[in-house]
Amino acid sequence: MLNIEKIKSDFPILKRKVNGEKPLIYLDSAATTQKPLQVIDAISNYYKNSNANVHRGVYSIGHESTEMYENARKKVAKFINAKSENSIVFTRNATESINLIAKTYAKKFLKANDEILVSQMEHHSNLIPWQIIAEESGAKLKFIPLIENGILDLTQLEKLISQKTKIISLVHVSNTLGTINPIEKIISLAHSFNAKILIDASQSVPHMEIDVEKLDCDFLVFSGHKMLAPTGIGVLYGKENLLEELPPFLSGGEMISEVHLETANYRQTPWKFEAGTPNVSGTIALSTAIDYLLSLGMGNIHKHEIELTQYAIYELNKIPEIKIFGPTENRGNVVSFNFENIHPHDISTILDNDGICIRAGHNCTQPIIRWLNVSAVARVSFYIYNTKEDIDIFISSLKKVKKIFYAT
Ligand SMILES: Cc1ncc(COP(=O)(O)O)c(C=O)c1O
Repeated sequence: MLNIEKIKSDFPILKRKVNGEKPLIYLDSAATTQKPLQVIDAISNYYKNSNANVHRGVYSIGHESTEMYENARKKVAKFINAKSENSIVFTRNATESINLIAKTYAKKFLKANDEILVSQMEHHSNLIPWQIIAEESGAKLKFIPLIENGILDLTQLEKLISQKTKIISLVHVSNTLGTINPIEKIISLAHSFNAKILIDASQSVPHMEIDVEKLDCDFLVFSGHKMLAPTGIGVLYGKENLLEELPPFLSGGEMISEVHLETANYRQTPWKFEAGTPNVSGTIALSTAIDYLLSLGMGNIHKHEIELTQYAIYELNKIPEIKIFGPTENRGNVVSFNFENIHPHDISTILDNDGICIRAGHNCTQPIIRWLNVSAVARVSFYIYNTKEDIDIFISSLKKVKKIFYAT
């Protein structure tokens, strides 16, 4: 069990008041999470004590900084059970990780009339890069459709996949519907057609145990800022032999082994993909964030979030004018909903007056919003610092929204 009071006390921002002494109730962790003091201190300690560029300076703080950076890589590898730290590439965020694979994989392997499969529930980050690649390469982009409640249509998937399918790029947990996709099944289906598969784990790695060895996915991406770490640090996991086969993404300093005026040789993976000075403090803070999550236990975190999600759905269902989107079972910690005849932006603005932060809009998933046949949704999402009391405050504020709008 998590000690939420203790956890809350680690997050300085949760002590602040907003809008006239209202305690801050943060229900938008799917967008980005708040940061514990341990992570904030890791950044400041790095700059106070060890700041130096990595892989360059032959002096003590240069060695120290490099060691901290490379230890963070080992920590990330262990966290997702990657066989080797050479499988971990540091990027800016999940978006950059997906772009890296889309660009480099396409350059090496995609040709006209090959097929790329994504689903209809992708975040724009896992859609636009593939649209661009399809246009550039002449490959066809195909979509796994959704059935009732926002679940993937696996029957259609089996019809869509073929020897032409070269890569599948699929979200693990939908940031709008909360659907947890059966990725194990889809990974083995992809491999039975010799297709590669990338998993967008932005909404799963922060919340549950992920084992890339067991999953056997080819690539997996996530962002540090959605798991207590700062913005500007992302992760790409790739099977080492596959990463070795791919050409560089960005180029310049640090990704080379030998340079002549006309030509250059590149370093081995992962450094081949890390051109220029990386986000050293971000990786170190990500390592601290992982320590923090592991000290709580990923199983305990998942259990806590399931309890909160079920409680929120139970309470939301008591308000007849509210419609909840997404599956009834097997879902992650986001709950999107609409209030009949009230725009989600209005809901969010009124809740903000009570100090409550929720998301309202299309959540960077416009195709899902269109599929739901609505103009926008309101969304709450939970993390380790949320409690049932937060949900009670949110629900009573929603009842106020109802009074305001339905009285007029
Ligand atoms: C499912 C999913 N994929 C990708 C992203 C993109 O993450 P980032 O903006 O950190 O690159 C998000 C962010 O909300 C997400 O929820």
